[in-house]
Amino acid sequence: LKKGIFLETANVTRLRSVLAMAEDTETGRPGMMMITGETGIGKTVAAKNAHAIGGGVYLRVLEQMSQHDFLQALCFEIAGVRPHGSGRCKNRIIDEMGQAGANQTVYIDEADRLHRSRLEDLRDIHDLTGAPIVLIGEPGLSAQVASRARINNRIPAEFRVGFEPITTRDISMYASQAAGLKLTPDACAIVRQISRGIFRHAHNFIVSLDQMAKAAQTNKVDEVMARRLAPAKGGKK
Ligand SMILES: Nc1ncnc2c1ncn2[C@@H]1O[C@H](COP(=O)(O)OP(=O)(O)OP(=O)(O)O)[C@@H](O)[C@H]1O
Ligand SMILES: [Mg+2]
Repeated sequence: LKKGIFLETANVTRLRSVLAMAEDTETGRPGMMMITGETGIGKTVAAKNAHAIGGGVYLRVLEQMSQHDFLQALCFEIAGVRPHGSGRCKNRIIDEMGQAGANQTVYIDEADRLHRSRLEDLRDIHDLTGAPIVLIGEPGLSAQVASRARINNRIPAEFRVGFEPITTRDISMYASQAAGLKLTPDACAIVRQISRGIFRHAHNFIVSLDQMAKAAQTNKVDEVMARRLAPAKGGKK
């Protein structure tokens, strides 16, 4: 399969329009943002693409990051330095972002790993700089955020982007762009069903279909070929 294919899924399009609202400083719509969705559904790929196009800062939270580790990593992304001490890191982040003037969007991936106090740090940064901050995580992130009124309050309903399962159209386009395969509507429906619309599973099925199609010396995938795929394990139906 071709590497690095980026598909403009319905989720990606929705994210783009919400980002445009959050980044619009003219209307001064305040707010933090949230992207949630099941593992493998395409959150990281979408956020990295938005970051690559629109700029800002992207940071992935690592398991067991302390407050200092986290603020230092964020400070490094924003200011290129790693000061000693959480307070110094935070001040430097706020200074630097305040100076930049234009809002730099901050993407925090795997935000469900953050200790609650780190969410408060992000709230401070958002309040003091006005920069849009995008929290990205699995569905449980919504509940974590809901228990922190001061964070919850800053994320308007329209700034919450729940990633939905990908569609048969997404699957058909991906198979075509990444592998040059032509899937019949029935074949797309089977891949959609057994992948449950999880992009990572759909990708793996298309890799398998590509191998089957090559063996059969064709680029067409019909229902019969798609039925030979075994359903993805794990997760809910
Ligand atoms: N828009 C896209 N275009 C092309 N491929 C995509 C896209 N979104 C997702 N993928 C494929 O699906 C895989 C999983 O996507 P991603 O890593 O973004 O999921 P996630 O929601 O961040 O999951 P998690 O963080 O739980 O692992 C990617 O490695 C890529 O192969
Ligand atoms: Mg991810």
